[in-house]
Amino acid sequence: MEIIVKQDYDQMSRCAAEHIAELIRKKPNSVIGFATGRTPIGTYRELIRMHKEEGLDFSQVVTFNLDEYLGLGMDLSKPYALDQSYQRFMYEELFNHINIKKENIHIPDGLTKNPDEFCKAYEEAIKEAGGIDLQILGIGGDGHWAFNEPGSTLDSRTRVEKLNEQTIKDNYEAFYKEAGFTMEEMPHYAITMGLGTILEAKSLLMLANGAKKAKVVAKALYGPVTDQVTASAIQVYKGKATIILDKEAASMLDSKDYN
Ligand code: GLP
Repeated sequence: MEIIVKQDYDQMSRCAAEHIAELIRKKPNSVIGFATGRTPIGTYRELIRMHKEEGLDFSQVVTFNLDEYLGLGMDLSKPYALDQSYQRFMYEELFNHINIKKENIHIPDGLTKNPDEFCKAYEEAIKEAGGIDLQILGIGGDGHWAFNEPGSTLDSRTRVEKLNEQTIKDNYEAFYKEAGFTMEEMPHYAITMGLGTILEAKSLLMLANGAKKAKVVAKALYGPVTDQVTASAIQVYKGKATIILDKEAASMLDSKDYN
């Protein structure tokens, strides 16, 4: 795995966007796994800039998002702040601003009547698309990838997962709070790609920034491979993994391990 450490969030974001753009230029019909959260927002802004100013072409790109809250789906009758679905996030932060085809976008359907069937079909759709070329990942405060909470196994697939308390609290602080929601209004379940699904992607790009992530990043990269820190799965990943961090998130890593 390659670890790249950048001075700050903006540089991390530019480097990540360049990494994604390089793949799209090389393979215009790439299958890209997108992530939500605060971390990738700067990367998405940079991709939008590259599309607008440099003509980066998303017209053949196919996407699969990692996860969605169960019970939520994009609701355009609400202002963005009051629609906390990951689907809305992706359209607002990226898809509305690039030339991606709607039919090429896949995001787990939090409003599905039959989650189990939906999850199976999602796995099938990934296979039919030829697998994911590049999966973008953040890391949760408890070390999770997507919504693979502690206890998720390395062979887990797309499924409904119960969110643990730290995740509910972190995501409340990061998003729901400023929109005026109460903790009681936080969803407790989500549909998430499994660790097994993620580990089948041909390449991974994990991003983290800020001092708050330093400890969990070190645990994921140096600690034991454990279902208590599901991002530690990166240590058994067989494809090409790139980790781009800002200085703060890398502060507990050994400087000999990165560029
Ligand atoms: C959520 C998402 C994850 C994301 C994590 C970290 O739990 N399901 O995919 O990596 O939050 O979010 P942030 O980037 O806001 O720290």
